[in-house]
Amino acid sequence: MNEALHADAAYVGWLGYRHLESEELLKSGVTWCGRVVVAEDGEVIGSAVAELMNGIESMLGIRPASSGISDGDYCIALGTFEGGNELVARTFDVATQAAIGPEGYAIRTNSEAGCIAIGASTAAGILYGVFHFLRLLGTGSTSDLESLELAENPKNGLRMINQWDNIDGSIERGYAGKSIFYLNNEITNNTERVRDYARLLASTGVNAISINNVNVHHYETMFLTDKYLPDVARLADVFRAYGIKLFLSINFASPIEIGGLSTADPLDPGVREWWVAITKQVYAAIPDFGGFLVKADSENRPGPFTYDRDHADGANMLAEALLPHGGVVIWRCFVYNCKQDWRDRSTDRARAAYDHFTPQDGRFHDNVILQIKNGPMDFQVREPVSPLFGAMESTNQMIEFQITQEYTGQQRHLCYLVPQWKEALDFETYAKEEASSVKNIINGSAYGRRYGGIAAVSNIGDDENWTGHLLAQANLYGYGRLAWDTEISAEAIAEEWARLTFGGEERLVRTIVSMLMESLSIYESYTAPLGVGWMVNPGHHYGPDVDGYEYSKWGTYHFADCHGIGVDRTVQSGTGYAGQYMGSNAYVYGSVERCPDELLLFFHHVPYTHVLHSGSTVIQHIYDSRFDGAERAEQLREDWNGLEGTLDDGLHRQVAERLKEQAEHAREWRDRMNTYFYRKSGIADKLGRKIY
Ligand code: GCU
Repeated sequence: MNEALHADAAYVGWLGYRHLESEELLKSGVTWCGRVVVAEDGEVIGSAVAELMNGIESMLGIRPASSGISDGDYCIALGTFEGGNELVARTFDVATQAAIGPEGYAIRTNSEAGCIAIGASTAAGILYGVFHFLRLLGTGSTSDLESLELAENPKNGLRMINQWDNIDGSIERGYAGKSIFYLNNEITNNTERVRDYARLLASTGVNAISINNVNVHHYETMFLTDKYLPDVARLADVFRAYGIKLFLSINFASPIEIGGLSTADPLDPGVREWWVAITKQVYAAIPDFGGFLVKADSENRPGPFTYDRDHADGANMLAEALLPHGGVVIWRCFVYNCKQDWRDRSTDRARAAYDHFTPQDGRFHDNVILQIKNGPMDFQVREPVSPLFGAMESTNQMIEFQITQEYTGQQRHLCYLVPQWKEALDFETYAKEEASSVKNIINGSAYGRRYGGIAAVSNIGDDENWTGHLLAQANLYGYGRLAWDTEISAEAIAEEWARLTFGGEERLVRTIVSMLMESLSIYESYTAPLGVGWMVNPGHHYGPDVDGYEYSKWGTYHFADCHGIGVDRTVQSGTGYAGQYMGSNAYVYGSVERCPDELLLFFHHVPYTHVLHSGSTVIQHIYDSRFDGAERAEQLREDWNGLEGTLDDGLHRQVAERLKEQAEHAREWRDRMNTYFYRKSGIADKLGRKIY
């Protein structure tokens, strides 16, 4: 294969629609997919039809005919239930139609009518149904098409991507090149690439995107004004065709910075009017605009605190401006003191979100959603789940994940994050007697909330393969699939992705799935096991530095001395953070005996000689997990090298290079960590391995 084709295969990712290998499925596909019958038009339906035609052509080698009515031969019939496609109306009974929500779909083979019908109540539902159908073919998860019968609704209302892109083309925590949205203080004209991104996202079920960094700087503040709004509207057009709503991150101080006012006080009538007027202007340009994403009073960003107001005051002001247009405010809870004195042992950053927000429960308007990071700190490889989930009965909540691998290897190391996200979603909060796991809180069902969902920080840039590390595409794919259906397993998602991206050769698929599934635990073991976190170089956050954050203002300490390590967050003798949890979570985390090993140092300060549930001591675990992790990183490399020849060389090579760097870097982690703790504790490795 030539270089251009390698690049192309990496670029198309899981939408490569490889020619089907199964003869049986191919035959069945050719029988059923010769014609597409669609009676409606419109942008989103148009995207669905185009995708279906292209997918079929590429996987089956036939270009389907397209028509408004059937010619009596086998066909695929698409349409909304009320949309006038007689085949669709006939195929789904009243009960099925009633069970399909706004973005859901049903797919059924109707042998009698000679069609496979994809029916939905909206055009977006049809688009998702088409992607599902193509996925069935592409993964070969059905052997023939004679008896399809399925129906799906998304588990979450909002399934959102947060871009942290800046107008100068840089990306905050971006590890795959520059922005695809911006260049030199302009919004891109290359909407082709943006469209391809929209397709990738829509194919996984994503339905919302905020297109600029939550840290809103000078120029981005003007996205709301005529200077940029027409260009923002162009991007909204691209996403709209794929059922994706556009949001903007806004600067809380906008009334001052672009409005010419002297204050941004949320209770000031002039400020409130200003937001009403500017919001109206945004909706005039983008009628289906999603709303505002807000980082306020967080890491030096402006917010209501300046005026002695609280978050509810700030969020509600924006909510009122958005309400007449159907928009929502997504208000981030990443609020903490980032100027802490490291000597101050009474302040605990982990407590901050809960302490700030729970007293305001019930005060936020109905179109405000609080966006809460999965853990109380900041996307470490291991953190407990934030105790804020479920702790605000009368407030909409959504969860925020980070697909971009800021603390998890920056797309130079392999780290498949779906298992981490699943664990957070499955976490039982004990907010109610039953059905109050995080996924039930954020999908709104636990407290009957109208809005909720999932957001995640994107991992893409303008690298040819989007994500820098080709295998990091699995995180983007997996995020969307999990946001759509929180019940699918991390392994099933990995397998889907591997089959769609690399084809169905069994050894190839098995190897990739197992590498992905192992990768999080490998990364955790050579970097920061036992829940301690933060042992990275300050600023860029790549690579080991045990004390990098130990004497800083960020509230991120491990307190290692010659006797022991960890943060006492108990109620009895520590910061009291463990007491923010409900039910048995407080009891388990609060006790050094009961706390699970993987979070021990997050909740407790213990001597190096403390014996873990595993039977090992803390210090021995520190050594073992680093030696083990570095070895397993080397194994990842060997596993991949063993695949040479089973996929195209260009793709193989780019991943091999990253895995080589990872294996070397894992050794660096191992030696730095082990040496540090050996010198601190003076306790030797029981196995006498090399420590410096
Ligand atoms: C982290 C990250 C920042 C980011 C912040 C946020 O602290 O390092 O770059 O701005 O999270 O989520 O707002």
